[in-house]
Amino acid sequence: MVEIRTESGETFECADGDTILRAALRVGHGFPYECNVGSCGNCRFELLDGDVAHERADPPAWGERDLKRNRWLGCQARPASNCTIKVRLDDHYQSLHRPARRQMRLTEIRSITHDISEFCFAVPAPAPFLPGQYALLYLPGIKGGRAYSFCNIDGDTGTWSFQIKRVPDGAATGALFNQLQAGDTIEADGPFGMAYLREDAPRDILCIAGGSGLSPMISIARAAAVNPALAERNIHFVYGGRSPRDICGEAMLAELPGWGTRIHYTAAISETDAGWIGRTGFVHQVALDLYGDRLPEFEIYFAGPPLMAAAAQKMLYEAKAPVDQVHFDQFY
Ligand SMILES: Cc1cc2nc3c(=O)[nH]c(=O)nc-3n(C[C@H](O)[C@H](O)[C@H](O)COP(=O)(O)OP(=O)(O)OC[C@H]3O[C@@H](n4cnc5c(N)ncnc54)[C@H](O)[C@@H]3O)c2cc1C
Ligand code: FES
Repeated sequence: MVEIRTESGETFECADGDTILRAALRVGHGFPYECNVGSCGNCRFELLDGDVAHERADPPAWGERDLKRNRWLGCQARPASNCTIKVRLDDHYQSLHRPARRQMRLTEIRSITHDISEFCFAVPAPAPFLPGQYALLYLPGIKGGRAYSFCNIDGDTGTWSFQIKRVPDGAATGALFNQLQAGDTIEADGPFGMAYLREDAPRDILCIAGGSGLSPMISIARAAAVNPALAERNIHFVYGGRSPRDICGEAMLAELPGWGTRIHYTAAISETDAGWIGRTGFVHQVALDLYGDRLPEFEIYFAGPPLMAAAAQKMLYEAKAPVDQVHFDQFY
């Protein structure tokens, strides 16, 4: 255990093997972050005194310039001594449910499409999280945690479930889909993430999901459907895949109270297919076609692969959706 001190005087302890970001979040400090896996750079800090080493040898968001300026990534930096750091803490990043490491047991794998499955784990309760948040999963034989978003809601006490898309030749998803079996135990850390359901937002909800982005959008829709504070809100859900066999989500929404009245689902494929009678186009474009000038009136959540997320962000910016009404955690 070592002590981390910020230039402005906050102190917190960091356990052996933990990273500076996660140690700060565990005790309620608002250390800026987003991805938790070394890819976004939001957790960068300056090391004023002490020694750290990165967990991941080659984090994409870190390079020579950072090394020269003694800047490190909070989500990757493991301290080797007491440290003093320069970072601007921000209450926005404080966790309502403080993240913790826990063992969890795989109870069930449910197939959703040809390459998406839902992995359900039993966790030692209580393990609360907010709809739209994610956890880091430590998989057998895989170095470092991988981020996966919850698809269930906190009411399902003692269960953490994730809808995960298999990546061809992917190491982490290979371990999940090929190795893990019901009864196996893995370590998880969480919850994390800022793209959670805003329960107090007085607006209809729009969820835009592409491929692997299904999970957090389903969690948000499930939570919004049963939250009395949001009973007057419409929930619009747009899901995009490449071809008809990628399309899913409707059956999960159809189980919710409000289906057919205030819950609306649209699917779109991006490739042409003679047998498809729904919409065709990229999911962000379909959302624009559907809601156009009304986009600034929604509380908007989106998730999906990096190219889709970048296109959705640009589209929403150009459509003048206010930034504080748009919520996403970039996938990498
Ligand atoms: C906030 C967030 C939420 C996500 N939610 C979901 C979700 O709900 N469903 C879903 O299917 N996917 C989700 N993802 C994507 C997921 O985390 C993986 O990137 C994806 O499953 C890649 O799997 P793979 O088999 O290709 O992994 P791999 O082949 O293991 O690696 C691919 C990714 O892992 C990174 N990586 C490599 N080494 C390390 C290391 N030591 N530590 C950390 N990262 C490393 C690589 O840069 C690359 O981006 C999310 C990602 C983020 C950041
Ligand atoms: S690089 Fe650390 S949170 Fe993204």
